[in-house]
Amino acid sequence: RSSNLQMEESSILRRANCRAKGGAPGFKVAILGAAGGIGQPLAMLMKMNPLVSVLHLYDVVNSPGVTADVSHMDTGAVVRGFLGQQQLESALTGMDLVVIPAGVPRKPGMTRDDLFKINAGIVKTLCEGIAKCCPHAIINLISNPVNSTVPIAAEVFKKAGTFDPKRLLGVTMLDVVRANTFVAEILGLDPREVDVPVVGGHAGVTILPLLSQVKPPCSFTQEEIKYLTDRIQNGGTEVVEAKAGAGSATLSMAYAAAKFADACLRGLRGDAGIVECSFVASQVTELPFFASKVRLGRAGAEEIYPLGPLNEYERVGLEKAKKELAGSIEKGISFIRK
Ligand code: NAI
Repeated sequence: RSSNLQMEESSILRRANCRAKGGAPGFKVAILGAAGGIGQPLAMLMKMNPLVSVLHLYDVVNSPGVTADVSHMDTGAVVRGFLGQQQLESALTGMDLVVIPAGVPRKPGMTRDDLFKINAGIVKTLCEGIAKCCPHAIINLISNPVNSTVPIAAEVFKKAGTFDPKRLLGVTMLDVVRANTFVAEILGLDPREVDVPVVGGHAGVTILPLLSQVKPPCSFTQEEIKYLTDRIQNGGTEVVEAKAGAGSATLSMAYAAAKFADACLRGLRGDAGIVECSFVASQVTELPFFASKVRLGRAGAEEIYPLGPLNEYERVGLEKAKKELAGSIEKGISFIRK
């Protein structure tokens, strides 16, 4: 085992030297909850990302197996596994980006809010570790209910004196991925050509697709708008019911998380014009957190874009979304404050 470690360290050094000679930059990425339904395919996708030089896979169970498996892929990133709370600090030290899909998923009949009790505590513990070991890392928070876990993370970081609102990003990318797919289906286009902004939050009516702002420009009938809005808002439930007790979206979520993490890494590298939707600390509405388009750069979410012109249907949706979001945000904040 120690010779394995030595070989691994020398391989990291070789790659660091290569970068110093002008090779591609590489970032250190940790996945917390890496042995889960999302974590495993996400680990595979991050191992395939050329921007990742070191990949840390942390979980409270089964991470050694996932690590051994993923580490055999002949791509650039060096993979290391970490098992259990006592290895959390080693998993986090030196990380540039931390992606968190740790926690329990929904079963049929459950709302994302039903997960609060278990996942709130998990997110709190993990964020305390981040505050201590990699306070400047960008965080991609996937664990549900995102509308509450992001405020929880913010409170933990505030308490620790490390809160940087630009670096805490709730992952709502799956809503955008679904919206692009469903809209492309209706328009008869390739989903890769479609861009649907989805704002608000990540649960039921808080998921607000702005169909009036779809690119390429297009128009929908009232029936299509209602069908698309309902399907995008309930996409998660569609998967939960189809899986019939075996969990929630994992493969499409891993894809969405990898796409979002890649955007964050390109931002960190200094690429211009990287814009994605994310649930962040925001002044776009009167609520302290809100999902909208953000520009990703070296400092994280460097610019938060306003919602743009909304039609009447979207304005009504926005009011509904804000009402529910306010309660979920408050629930997260008071979990830490009380
Ligand atoms: P899963 O149960 O398959 O995997 C979760 C993993 O987290 C397990 O391997 C478990 O051991 C691990 N874990 C539990 N406690 C931990 C701790 N204290 N530290 C580190 N790891 C821990 O669940 P799945 O399907 O991967 O979902 C994970 C989370 O992602 C759920 O909360 C789910 O609701 C959420 N999710 C979020 C989406 C989004 O769009 N933001 C979409 C789909 C799911």
